[in-house]
Amino acid sequence: MKKNPSNNKTKQIDNHLIDNSDKLLTTNDGVAIHDNNNTLKAGERGPSLLEDFVMLDKMAHFDRERIPERVVHARGSGAHGIFEATEDISQYTKAGFLKKGTITPLFLRFSTVAGFKGSTDLARDVRGFSVKFYTEEGNYDLVGNNIPVFFIQDAMNFPDLVHAVKPEPNNEMPQAASAHDTFWDFISLMPEAAHMVMWTMSDRAIPRSLRMMEGFGVHTFKFINEEGKATFVKFHWKPKLGVHQVAWQEAQKISGYDADFHRRDLWENIDKGNFPQWDLGVQLIPEEDELKFSFDILDPTKIVPEELIPVKIIGTMTLNRNPENFFAETEQIAFDPGRLVPGIDFSNDPLLQGRVFSYADTQNYRLGGPNFHELPINKSVNGKHNNQKDGFGRMDILKGNVSYFPNSLGNGCPYHAMLRGEKGFESHSEKIDAKKIRGRSTSFADHFTQARLFFNSQTEAEQNHIISAYSFELSKVKSEDVRRRELAILNQIDKKLAQKVGANLGLTPPAQLDSLTIQFAKNNHPEYPIQPNKP
Ligand code: HEM
Repeated sequence: MKKNPSNNKTKQIDNHLIDNSDKLLTTNDGVAIHDNNNTLKAGERGPSLLEDFVMLDKMAHFDRERIPERVVHARGSGAHGIFEATEDISQYTKAGFLKKGTITPLFLRFSTVAGFKGSTDLARDVRGFSVKFYTEEGNYDLVGNNIPVFFIQDAMNFPDLVHAVKPEPNNEMPQAASAHDTFWDFISLMPEAAHMVMWTMSDRAIPRSLRMMEGFGVHTFKFINEEGKATFVKFHWKPKLGVHQVAWQEAQKISGYDADFHRRDLWENIDKGNFPQWDLGVQLIPEEDELKFSFDILDPTKIVPEELIPVKIIGTMTLNRNPENFFAETEQIAFDPGRLVPGIDFSNDPLLQGRVFSYADTQNYRLGGPNFHELPINKSVNGKHNNQKDGFGRMDILKGNVSYFPNSLGNGCPYHAMLRGEKGFESHSEKIDAKKIRGRSTSFADHFTQARLFFNSQTEAEQNHIISAYSFELSKVKSEDVRRRELAILNQIDKKLAQKVGANLGLTPPAQLDSLTIQFAKNNHPEYPIQPNKP
């Protein structure tokens, strides 16, 4: 395949590339610099002079080189690519980029969740799997992970989860996400995390390569067709190279030898023309079937088993070009599950609903104000046209004297689609008839069935890895109460698992959940623990 193939997005990016070779060194204002080695001084031995605008220009820019790293998923690696839609799914969605035969440019960023920007690639952690499709109808972001479920059910708990996972506030230790007291303290009080924690203690949390990981949209979304009919959808990325992991001992060695192991592997393979590919699959659930399952499809701690709803492949993604500049592309890209195109909509998953606020909000801060959409990597290929104005770092120069709506003076002022007799993004007109409550549906209360399902789906060797991982991570926890509390959760999932981990820790797994765990869970479900009513 051709190296660095171009498309309408990469051409847009290329327009911003600066080639410095053979150019005269200048200040930011284009003034040629005579001497780049010496500050301007009063005499040979100084002092230096404040009027040295050449040195001030250089130093002031250097002083501002760092921007805040992402509050989570700080460590990442990215690449450009394309998506080709290969199936006719127009009966489910009107999304233009999913029409059979359409090719859409994209940028993908993989990440670890908990570590800092310079942390090792091989940490035991979830991997982010974010794809920005630059569609002709605007940007669509599918911001997923390599694990199909999440730790928590409600956005309200996210800041607490992240505070528990990140190094502790007093001494900024430990760097390893899962191996510490605060993580296990929080997790052992949140039985809803049991399923996801089982995945993170499995080999899935130490991938062999970013090219060999699955990706998942995690939440249930909605497809909307031309008639406005909704179908629930779950997204899956299936790597053509298969799913492969390393063993924990290998991961530790690799981290020591090469903290950039995954980043290097991705970069070098794309550079050599070994373009990694994934199929995009969907699980489609008719709107009428929303309540037909023994779990709630709005609950992000649950999968929809493929035996119940098979995955239908609808297209293929190919990563075929490395970024030119890590900061300008991989670091400045802004993904947001709240960026939708016509044909795709949110479900009422309470975790997803909270994400819709958080991403654009953090990007307004991380990327220095409201004009980050104008950065080359974030620009849509069809342009943006609206009456929003000014703000830090504005790059577009709007013509005319009108920036409001409605108006009668504006020459060429943008009009919304309805006024022009056209279609734009319309939210699915779902009927809602409900009382406001702060609480959780009992359909979210079964926390252990799918954790058990996952454990039982593993081979004996894989189960042994899970047992070793729990034993290793929990052995780092100083508080015996916390260790016992987690063992009590494991005992609800699988007795053998709990006993083996308990034996490694020298503890007997309690038969019942800890009273503190139940007390917190009762906050969401007064009847807790509630057993699933259907198998
Ligand atoms: C990154 C918030 C749940 C996947 C981020 C960022 C924030 C955030 C603030 C940093 C974004 C940036 O600086 O550009 C939240 C909140 C959540 C949540 C509030 C729950 C309420 C999830 C879930 C997933 C996920 C369930 C997976 C489906 C990601 C990924 C990134 C990310 C992949 C990295 C994006 C990139 O590569 O730039 N999240 N998150 N998050 N989140 Fe979440």
